[in-house]
Formats: sequence, structure tokens, C-alpha cells
Amino acid sequence: MTDEIARNAGTATDFTLRLNRSASRTAPWTARQNEILSDAAFETARATIASWPGYAVTPLHALPGRAAELGIASLAYKDEAGRFGLGSFKALGGAYAVARLLQREVETALGNPVPMSEIVSGARDVSRITVCCATDGNHGRSVAWGAQAFGARCVIFIHATVSEARKAAIEAYGAEVRRTAGNYDDSVREAQETAMKEEWFVVSDTSYPGYMEIPKDVMQGYELMAAEAFDQLGTPPTHVFLQTGVGGMAAAVAAQAKRRWGDARPTIVLCDPDQSACWLESIRAGVPTAVEGDLDTMMAGLACGEVSALAWEVLETHADAVMALPDAAAFREMRALADPLPGDPAIIAGESAVAGLAGLAAAIKHPEARAALGLGPDSRALVFGTEGNTDPELYERIIAGELT
Ligand SMILES: Cc1ncc(COP(=O)(O)O)c(C=O)c1O
Repeated sequence: MTDEIARNAGTATDFTLRLNRSASRTAPWTARQNEILSDAAFETARATIASWPGYAVTPLHALPGRAAELGIASLAYKDEAGRFGLGSFKALGGAYAVARLLQREVETALGNPVPMSEIVSGARDVSRITVCCATDGNHGRSVAWGAQAFGARCVIFIHATVSEARKAAIEAYGAEVRRTAGNYDDSVREAQETAMKEEWFVVSDTSYPGYMEIPKDVMQGYELMAAEAFDQLGTPPTHVFLQTGVGGMAAAVAAQAKRRWGDARPTIVLCDPDQSACWLESIRAGVPTAVEGDLDTMMAGLACGEVSALAWEVLETHADAVMALPDAAAFREMRALADPLPGDPAIIAGESAVAGLAGLAAAIKHPEARAALGLGPDSRALVFGTEGNTDPELYERIIAGELT
């Protein structure tokens, strides 16, 4: 087949699928990839996060009704809506990176090792340290929550269109929230410049040359979501569909899958919003490639114009395909989850939670895409519902059918 399928461009069912010829299940897990995400680093993350008050494994729902409708053997949905009461999987990453940063800073100041338990319990005075980041919601909530729990100061930068509800949710964790002019990238710049001036620490979920350590910690935290889901599944999945913003979450899931199952890892498909399809463009070009424009998607958590450098290093050889999908496809999945088929539970999923599921639904209905991905009656699909209704007002409007 051709490397790329574009279906009904311009209509509500439109999608683009591109195969990634640089990736395969048998591609090795390289030493470099193991420097980014390893079993040892993951076990440290797991032990730390599992020690936080309120830690609980999130549910993995079986959706037999939907699986039957799609014509596959099973569909599992890992539901992150309840993660630490923050509403998204991002609770795992930003807060863990804050803990690691504080540990490093205290160790440097004292000149000797400090156990993570002393950071997490708040036994060390870190109130002189300020952490900051730019966010469109979920990552900032996680960083603010971590800073508050461990006793550090926190300033979060949001751009013009981040809703008041998301702002208030971050403030509820004791952070100062500053609204900046312009778009997300402008808020990133403002956070960096202010941090330089004030000697604060940027805790970003995306990496670029010269800024790798903290985003690596963020991804190590995300791996716990994947590890839990894989432990919960009776039988390994054949396909995993993953929504992508900067790609940190997808890289963490792919890494956990490859290290756990080797060449028997599932087929991994990335799912981008069509208005911010930096993974589609990068896989097309074979190198990280930015998309320009206003990134005008309602999937706010996925509205990124550039891939994370570290995520690229993992997904370049371990993401088998990439799809781009319109907002309408995500809205349909949110409504379908809220009003399920007989036998399936009702699930609350936010607008950035379901691009993976939308990708699966789109691909399976298209004969060429289905064949290209090897989808069929024996397929066992896994998706990650990465947030609940983190913006309740918007959620209600989508469920009511006001946005289509
Ligand atoms: C709910 C949700 N899902 C998925 C993602 C994508 O994660 P990443 O940016 O690591 O690709 C985000 C990012 O903010 C998010 O908020």
C-alpha cells in the first residue's frame, strides 16, 4: 500500500493515516533509548509515586459493546479521570519531576544524598525554591499540586485562551497564575525568560536540545500509567492508539511496551489533532518538523506545534503509524462514552482524552487503513482516556451537542 491514506478531506469523518517506515516491532530498544526511559528509572518513579498519599491504580474498563460494534475481539480503556483527584494522567509526570528537581537541589545545597522520602514528606524546607511552567491546563495543575505538596513556591503561566475554570483549578493548589498575551508558545517563552531573571526552575513537559533532564523525569512518571494498564490486562494488546501533544505520553507507553514485550509489542498508532499535527508532519519528513499557525483545536492538551526531542528519539522507531483527526471525531467519542452501548460502563472523558479512540474508530471503518494496521476480529485494542472533564463547562456543551 501507499504510505499515506487521506479519507474524505474536509468532512466530519476525515482522517489522515501515515505509516512510519522507520519503525517496526523488531526495531531494537537502543542504548540511547534506554538512557531516556529504562526499567531502573521507571522503578524509582513507581516507588516514589506509589508512596504519595492518595495513590491508587486507576480503572481499566472493558468495553465489550463497543468492541463488538467495531468488529474487534476486545477494547480496553484506561480511565485517568480520577488520578490523584487532579482529573488527568498528568498528575504522574509534572509532580514527579518537581519531586526529583527538589531532591537534586537539596542534595546540591547539602553536598550529600537525600532520600526521596524526605522530599515527599515535606521534611526538607524547600520554600526558597520556585518552580514554574507554561501550560494549557493539566501539566500546570500537576506542577502546582506537586509544589504545594512538597512545600515549594510555584508560578504558572497560561496564555490568552486558557479558560477561567482551568486557571481556578491551578490556583486551588496554591500557585500564582500569570496570564500572558499570545499563544501557548508565547507563554513558554515568558516562563523561560522570567525563570532566568528570577532564578526559578522551569518544569516543562517537553524537551529540546539543552533541556532534557526534567522532561525525562516527567515521562518516567507517565510510564506508571502504562505499567498499571499492562498489569491489569489479562492478555497483551495487539494495538495501542495514543493521542499526542508533544509526545511524552506516547513515548512513555511505547517504551514500557517495548521493554516489557520486546518484539511482541503491540502495534502503536499516534493520534494528532489535524490542526496541530506535528507528529504527522515529522513522520512524513523523517525529522522533527514544526507546524505553524494558530493550532486551532479544541483538544487543548494536544495543541502543540512541535514534538518533544526525547519523545521523537523513542517514537521514531517505535510508533508504527500516525493519524490526524478533526475535533468532531473527538466530540463523537466523548458522547459515545457518556452514553454507552449495552454492556459498557458510562465514562466521562475530556476533549483531549479520546483522540486515540477516535483514531481506532476511524481506521477500522476504512478497509485500506484497517489492512494497513492489521486490525481485524482478533484485535485487542487498548486506549488511554487521559483526562476526565477537566473543563466542566466545555464538557457539558460538547455532551449536549452544542459543539459538533
Ligand atoms: C489529557 C491529555 N492527554 C494527552 C496529552 C498529551 O501528552 P503529551 O503532550 O505528552 O503528548 C495531554 C497533554 O497535555 C493531555 O492534557
